[in-house]
Amino acid sequence: MASGAGSNFEALVAASRSGALAAEVVLLAVNNPGCGAQQRADRLGIPWQLHDHRAAASREALDRGLCRSFREAQVDLVVMAGWMRIVTEELIGTFPERLINIHPSLLPSFRGARAVADALAAGVTLSGCTAHLVSLEVDTGPILVQAAVPVLADDSTESLAARIHRQEHRILPLAVQIAAHRLGLQV
Ligand code: GRF
Repeated sequence: MASGAGSNFEALVAASRSGALAAEVVLLAVNNPGCGAQQRADRLGIPWQLHDHRAAASREALDRGLCRSFREAQVDLVVMAGWMRIVTEELIGTFPERLINIHPSLLPSFRGARAVADALAAGVTLSGCTAHLVSLEVDTGPILVQAAVPVLADDSTESLAARIHRQEHRILPLAVQIAAHRLGLQV
């Protein structure tokens, strides 16, 4: 599931294709038509589906549509790789222990959509990213993998976000592998 540029989505596909991740990316769901993730899927030959939140009657209705698609595609795990929508019990309850999120802070610090800017404003000297299983409260749930990065004196939100991004691409495939292992999934 991706809303934006899709670099984490591509990192998962790359890890899968290189053999570093023993999993196959079978489907991409996007909510923003034409977003970077969708374009990457086209380039990489991965099927994608649009689940536009603007066309859904509620958050629950959007999630029900996603669940239908994922069931049809027979997925074992679902990854929120930059999914900028709040998800509901519909999705979380359908994929218990199987729904993974990536967040650009060392949780439980700096939850929410402005995590990188908030970390910078707080003056922390270490930040990073967290891959975790999804619980109902936004940016909470059992942590699978974290990576720390230094915050430099002259960092902007963009430079810090770029440093964090590089670590996200490293830990997200690891988190998928760990979640699969916890569930005893075989490929
Ligand atoms: C990442 O920083 C992720 O932590 C956040 O959204 C961003 C997605 O980036 N949830 P990309 O679309 O994968 O490039």
